Amino acid sequence: MEVKTSLLDNMIGVGDMVLLEPLTEDSFIENLRNRFDHNEIYTYIGSVVISMNPYRSLPIFTPEKVEEYRNRNFYELSPHIYALADEAYRSLRDQDKDQCILITGESGAGKTEASKLVMSYVAAVCGKGQEVNKVKEQLLQSNPVLEAFGNAKTVRNDNSSRFGKYMDIEFDFKGDPVGGVISNYLLEKSRVVKQPRGERNFHIFYQLLSGASDDTLRKLKLDRDFSKYNYLSLDSANVNGLDDAANFRTVRNAMQIVGFMEDEVQSVLELVAAVLKLGNIEFKPESRSNGYDESRVKDKNDLKEMCELLGIEQSVLERAFSYRTVEAKLEKVSTTLNVSQAYYARDALAKNLYSRLFSWLVTRINESIKAQSKTRHKVMGVLDIYGFEIFEDNSFEQFIINYCNEKLQQIFIELTLREEQEEYIREDIEWTNIEYFNNAVICDLIENNQNGILAMLDEECLRPGTVTDITFLDKLNTVCAEHQHFESRLSKNSKFLTDHSLPHSCFRIQHYAGKVLYRVEGFMDKNNDLLYRDLSQAMYKANHKLIKQLFPEGNPAKVNLKRPPTAGFQFKHSVGTLMRNLQTKNPNYIRCVKPNDKKAPRIFTDSLVRHQVAYLGLMENVRVRRAGYAYRQAYEPCLERYKMLCKQTWPHWKGPTREGVEVLMADLQVSTEEFAYGNSKIFIRNPRTLFSLEEKRRGCLENLAALIQKIYRGWKCRTHFLLLKRSQVVVAAWYRRYAQQKKYTQIKSATIMVQSYSRGWKARKILRELKHQKRCEEAATTIAAYWHGTQARRELKRLKKEARRRHAVAVIWAYWLGLKVRREYRKFFRANAGRKIYSFIMQRLMQKYFLGLKRDLPSMSPIGGSWPTRPYRFLDTAHTELRSIFHHWRCKKYRSRFTDERKAVFEEKLQASEIFKDKKALYPSSVGQPFRGDYLEISKNPKYQKLSSAMDEKVLLADMVNKINRANGKGTARIFLLTKNNFVLADQKTGQVKASVPLPDLASISVSTQNDGFFALKLKEGSAGATKGDFLLSSEHLIEIITKLRRTGATAVNHNHLDIDISDEFLVQFKQDKVCVKFVQGAPKNGNGASCKRKNNRLLEVSVPSTA
Ligand SMILES: Nc1ncnc2c1ncn2[C@@H]1O[C@H](COP(=O)(O)OP(=O)(O)OP(=O)(O)O)[C@@H](O)[C@H]1O
Ligand SMILES: [Mg+2]
Repeated sequence: MEVKTSLLDNMIGVGDMVLLEPLTEDSFIENLRNRFDHNEIYTYIGSVVISMNPYRSLPIFTPEKVEEYRNRNFYELSPHIYALADEAYRSLRDQDKDQCILITGESGAGKTEASKLVMSYVAAVCGKGQEVNKVKEQLLQSNPVLEAFGNAKTVRNDNSSRFGKYMDIEFDFKGDPVGGVISNYLLEKSRVVKQPRGERNFHIFYQLLSGASDDTLRKLKLDRDFSKYNYLSLDSANVNGLDDAANFRTVRNAMQIVGFMEDEVQSVLELVAAVLKLGNIEFKPESRSNGYDESRVKDKNDLKEMCELLGIEQSVLERAFSYRTVEAKLEKVSTTLNVSQAYYARDALAKNLYSRLFSWLVTRINESIKAQSKTRHKVMGVLDIYGFEIFEDNSFEQFIINYCNEKLQQIFIELTLREEQEEYIREDIEWTNIEYFNNAVICDLIENNQNGILAMLDEECLRPGTVTDITFLDKLNTVCAEHQHFESRLSKNSKFLTDHSLPHSCFRIQHYAGKVLYRVEGFMDKNNDLLYRDLSQAMYKANHKLIKQLFPEGNPAKVNLKRPPTAGFQFKHSVGTLMRNLQTKNPNYIRCVKPNDKKAPRIFTDSLVRHQVAYLGLMENVRVRRAGYAYRQAYEPCLERYKMLCKQTWPHWKGPTREGVEVLMADLQVSTEEFAYGNSKIFIRNPRTLFSLEEKRRGCLENLAALIQKIYRGWKCRTHFLLLKRSQVVVAAWYRRYAQQKKYTQIKSATIMVQSYSRGWKARKILRELKHQKRCEEAATTIAAYWHGTQARRELKRLKKEARRRHAVAVIWAYWLGLKVRREYRKFFRANAGRKIYSFIMQRLMQKYFLGLKRDLPSMSPIGGSWPTRPYRFLDTAHTELRSIFHHWRCKKYRSRFTDERKAVFEEKLQASEIFKDKKALYPSSVGQPFRGDYLEISKNPKYQKLSSAMDEKVLLADMVNKINRANGKGTARIFLLTKNNFVLADQKTGQVKASVPLPDLASISVSTQNDGFFALKLKEGSAGATKGDFLLSSEHLIEIITKLRRTGATAVNHNHLDIDISDEFLVQFKQDKVCVKFVQGAPKNGNGASCKRKNNRLLEVSVPSTA
């Protein structure tokens, strides 16, 4: 990267206008344009920085840039606002000089941005630490708060500051910030109630409505819709690139950082809401008996809500909008307000409310950011104030603003000249008087206490009688007529009588920056800034801490009959204070220029810039700066820069630098009028001299460059040659080594080859000998082995033969002995001994078998299945037979233990099995249940005594059954009794006999195949019992009942056949009708058994839950 040592290096155009040659307005503008086109937005006039608004973000405000400009001298680098900030900060820190940075320019020229850049630069370069950072953060965060309440979108700037701001940043002896104080000037409060076309009210109104939560808005009684508020202009409510909602969050956050309490923020928002509500209050006329109209509030809803927000009694405020009390000494006169006066009062209240809130905010911020210690601090002031304004229609505000700029220009001239003069004295240079225009005479025209315009205005405002803007103008026409900077058509100065550019209701002032025509309309009103006392008293009565604080004059205990100071007076006073403050400080100027009025980047409008250059007095500025010596530079950098122009000083000057510069200048034969030697700097009168020095330097630099190039190239070639030479030796050495190595390798490999051949031949010879020797040894071994084998086999054969012979001898001997014994004992054996031995053995075996059976006899249970295994196969049949015999025997044993009753029971069970087994699903569950017969014990139960006595036969079965009702399929509990000849159905409660049917009348019984207890007792047609019809019953003991019925019925009728029909559908005869009973499988169920339902007249359906 190129290293800069001077502003003069690589300049685009001229970096410092003082060096501009020739100096004309055209060349001045052309230089600005040239630099602007190359993104050089900053240009110096000596130590003044001209800043062109780029209207786009340039990469020149990065942390790297901050580092680049840090601790560098002002003229060392390209012009930059950081250079000015650095210079100011260092001279504050190191030389203990209080500084002020005055930023001026027209609206949208970039003053506020410039002030923020200065603050952020200082924040970046000053000390760090927890406390210091907190202070920095608070100082920086005061900006968003003040911008929200004091800035608005205008046609010239989307973020236009509608107030003047001066901020003192205080530093301790180390240069660390410790606090600050902010002063505000002339907030444009008329904007609160009315905004020019295409402009907006202050940002905070839109931010609040867009960014506040629904809950906050509800508490503030506000609606998000801008169109609901008269004070908000709608045509430009939404600004491109401005996110009101996000900004609201930023402001709230900034307020928190600055130190606002939550209730304070809430109070501030309540006041903002109150202003919006106030704007919606409207009035209507009400005729009075005296013929005058009196104003009345039209719709009281907004008034009510506003009063609720601020804790004001509604009637008090309402009255203040209808009446006005004028107090004079001891008298109090109340007059009514007409509608237009009421509107005037409403707007005055809104304006006052807002502007006082703004001033309170400034005071509150100051409280937070003020330095904690009382010791003297170093101060850096930053002034961001409206620049000179010339519109088509200029009113009181422009007059005041231009007055302020006149004052600033005055101290600018004073301070610049003073600085110039001080420098000359410091440097011991002869002071030559500089001709310049002193605008003190214009300031005097405006602020003179006797006959200044502001004094006249105040006088007119206080004068009793009819006073209007015109009477004020008349007064000016009389008093200021002779002033050379005052022009008016009707003034006593007859030379303007025929000037048609001067309307009758206007006066013109020749400001230092140009002539401005002011229309007097509204001057009196705005200067008076009247707020009816009734309104301030109403505000004071509010039950709201902040609002009470804002209207102290409303306190009835402190009624002040004196008129409050006028706006003009207040402004003059605060400007005076500001000027006195600035005069004690070292000034630094930033002059902001707007390149176009389209807010667009890269457009440079000549006429607009020319206009600004004129009224910022920049040409005047350059002229003043050039009046003495145009350029000055400390000896050391000067000698360093130009030493190559003289042989004695090049390349090094050993003596003092001043002497070096003197030698240099003498050698260059620069005319002595063109420069002067100061104590530490050389002063050059004319830019031409400097440029000729620069020209010579450039030429010399070229020669030097050629020389450096020559030496460098020579050095480079020689170095290259030496390198080549050294390389050649190295390469040769390497090559030789390589060749020898290669030769050696070849010889070595040839030797190895020969060696290997000879070794191979020798080895093969030895191998052959060894192989022969080995074969010989192997042959001997084989022969020996064969020989031993033959010998061994022969021996084995002989041994075997001998053994066979010995065995044959033993066998023959045994046979011989046997024969001898048999011959000897034959006579002792009986003829059938063999059979006896056989039968003996068989007996022994049988005996063993039976004893074994006895020992392992299986259990006596008839169902036991075990049986010992058979020991011998020949016993197979006997074993099976014995098993069957044993089983029959143990069954007999078992049966023989039964009594007659038990036998009968088993017979019944057997019969049940014959009837139901594999036919009815209910059967398996009944097998394990014994048939008890009498379940009710009616003979013992006293309840059934009567029934028991009615039975003249033995009861074989007594059980509770359900008699199924044909009509609904429901069951009725009945006692079912079975005797030898009858079966009886009796009432379950009373025991009364309901039906007694002789068993012979029973024709058949029907049951289902399923797991249910339903059964039908069908009677024989024509029998006595049949008149009532068949019985459809259900019982838990169905199996037992039917088995018993069948057994008993069979004996009763003396035939052994009672039909039992097992099927899922059968007919039952109920009196006259036959009804079909049908069994169906229902869903599985727990607990409940089958249920019977009547389906129709002829069908009863029994749903039997499946057992799955
Ligand atoms: N250095 C800069 N870089 C980029 N944009 C800039 C710069 N300075 C100014 N601007 C742009 O110009 C706009 C106007 O600047 P700024 O608000 O500082 O003007 P101002 O002189 O303070 O105007 P007013 O008198 O109305 O307050 C900014 O919102 C920004 O968009
Ligand atoms: Mg601004």
